[in-house]
Amino acid sequence: MNYFNYRGKDLYCEDVALENLAKEFGTPLYVYSGKTILRHYHAFDNAFKSHDHLICYSIKANSNIGILNLLVQAGSGFDIVSKGELYRAMKAGADPSKIVFSGVGKTEDEIEMALIAGILMFNVESEAELYAIDKVAGRLGKKAPISFRVNPDVNPLTHPYISTGLKKNKFGIPHEKIIEAYKRALDLNNIEVVGIDCHIGSQITQLDPFNEAVEKMLNLIEKIESLGINIKYVDLGGGLGITYKDEEPAHPNEYGEAVLKYFKGINKKLIFEPGRVIVGNAGVLLTKVLYKKDTSEKKFIVVDAAMNDLARPALYGSYHSIVPVIKKEGNNVSVDIVGPVCESTDYLAKERTITEPEGGDLLCVMSAGAYGFSMASNYNSRLKPAEILVYNDKYYCIRERDTLEDLVSKENIPQIKVE
Ligand code: LLP
Repeated sequence: MNYFNYRGKDLYCEDVALENLAKEFGTPLYVYSGKTILRHYHAFDNAFKSHDHLICYSIKANSNIGILNLLVQAGSGFDIVSKGELYRAMKAGADPSKIVFSGVGKTEDEIEMALIAGILMFNVESEAELYAIDKVAGRLGKKAPISFRVNPDVNPLTHPYISTGLKKNKFGIPHEKIIEAYKRALDLNNIEVVGIDCHIGSQITQLDPFNEAVEKMLNLIEKIESLGINIKYVDLGGGLGITYKDEEPAHPNEYGEAVLKYFKGINKKLIFEPGRVIVGNAGVLLTKVLYKKDTSEKKFIVVDAAMNDLARPALYGSYHSIVPVIKKEGNNVSVDIVGPVCESTDYLAKERTITEPEGGDLLCVMSAGAYGFSMASNYNSRLKPAEILVYNDKYYCIRERDTLEDLVSKENIPQIKVE
């Protein structure tokens, strides 16, 4: 079931024509399918139904509170990495006892806010951080639930910028040092060890890296429990990939089977932190063709969306399929689809064959629901796009487009008289 379909020549999201949304809200415009988000969530959830588990959707993938609220209603917990994400989760109605807090640089005020909220656990990424958490918990008269994030040194076979579980990455505690860390935690009064955690990378399409990580984790759990520590939660992070072009990632069911074969008869709650697989293919970015420009080298299609709206092509060379919002007849041409930002890396597609569009035509950038708006910026003083959530034949503006006033609303002109 795909909720982005052509009806005749018109591309729809669920029962809403994308052209109408572009007309009403302007472009560039993010549009999400609520039904798709929920379908992905339930597919992931069902894959683990035979074992005690909790899904903590990773907010960084798409942090709009309208989307978080849908997931709250579906029963999701959340993986956060900042007090901003904690704030968003709480605004969206999240149950704090379903929140895990990851990240290598949690500050004392973030730790305090999370302790007061009563989150499920901190995924601790260094011994120094453990001491900081112990100190803050002591000051508040609380016991902080923690797990350590293991760096299992597994190659996730993905883009180097989004692999996180290799020895050379900054994340987690090297697996050979993890026992030492658990021993330290035992000595601290304000810490309660509840689990173990890892996250090896993102856009992982094969199962082998996950298998390897789980095997290493189980090995460590045995050693940790021999110290008399009870590991209640095993957090395996996120990372399951999606199809952008021709990737064939494991289905959540296959991923589920792969993981669960290790946990038969093991009475521990499994935690997952999926992001991309829930929202990636549930969102698109609509953009309008501004100009066509031919050089002796290339044909450029200049559109009104840019790297500040969708950074992935510029940052990682990522492929996003681009299709017309209204299908038309015409010649196939090979073009670079570029934005207005003053950087050579500002492109959405390179050497892409599409039906030649004209100025004013609408294009739809697919698979833009994850790490799209959440990585958007105001670079070049561009206004961040609006976001629309579609649900059946209804649609909701879940974020308004920036205004010019928004751009400078936090800035001040100081009282300097230049001599
Ligand atoms: N848990 C932790 C600790 C993470 O660092 C991440 C993603 C996730 C969960 C969710 O991973 P996912 O299921 O979405 O793969 N901006 C990049 C992706 C960066 C991923 C960062 N960490 C991109 O656009 O491809």
